[in-house]
Amino acid sequence: MFITLEGIDGCGKSTQARLLAAALKHAGRDVLLLREPGGVAISEKIRGLLLDPENAAMCDACELLLYEAARAQLVHEVIRPALAQDRVVVCDRFYDSTTAYQAFAGGSTREDADRANALAVGDCRPDVTFVFDIDPEKAAVRREGRNDAPDRMEEKGLEFQQCVAEGFRTIAREEPQRVRTIDASQPVDAVFACMLAELAHAGLAVDAADARAALLQPEA
Ligand code: TYD
Repeated sequence: MFITLEGIDGCGKSTQARLLAAALKHAGRDVLLLREPGGVAISEKIRGLLLDPENAAMCDACELLLYEAARAQLVHEVIRPALAQDRVVVCDRFYDSTTAYQAFAGGSTREDADRANALAVGDCRPDVTFVFDIDPEKAAVRREGRNDAPDRMEEKGLEFQQCVAEGFRTIAREEPQRVRTIDASQPVDAVFACMLAELAHAGLAVDAADARAALLQPEA
């Protein structure tokens, strides 16, 4: 099973990805937790280019193609082989981020983003995608709590994040079977419970004891 987690910057999905992977491991599943852009050496190098604030001159096509290049390598090296071995793959962001960030909020067309996504992933598509929906102003406050400097994408500002959030809402409306929206303004454990309830509907049940064990596990 292939599960992806999506949302604007600061929506809390990375915490939820970690919790989900931990709960599934407690439940005895063979789980692989990945993030995009990145996850393998070549894609992590591309991530460095994409997020470096010094690369402010990057044009829209370069940005789109670099995200896709990182994704193609991750799919080829890790995701496809893991799914072939029946592992559960949990990925923090995947191609819906390109649709929301580069097409809805950025300067690429939807058609180009769709074509580039298809080229990068082929038939390797998520079974379930969670979109963590939160007011961009609240997410910005959460991000201020972190003490790292904003990366090139975070520097694009609040209006950009609002367009990204709208993009994710549209994707969720377009594909209600695959994409489940979760209210990410709730506390971490409530968001986690909502995600597990949705996952149970999709055929992957995690018991309460495994969920609790994940919540108690210290952050790696
Ligand atoms: P990251 O630090 O991983 O953000 P987060 O912790 O919020 O997931 O940085 C990834 C950034 O790249 C984030 O701002 C979203 C952006 N992004 C795109 O614009 N397009 C994409 O296809 C992907 C995967 C990410």
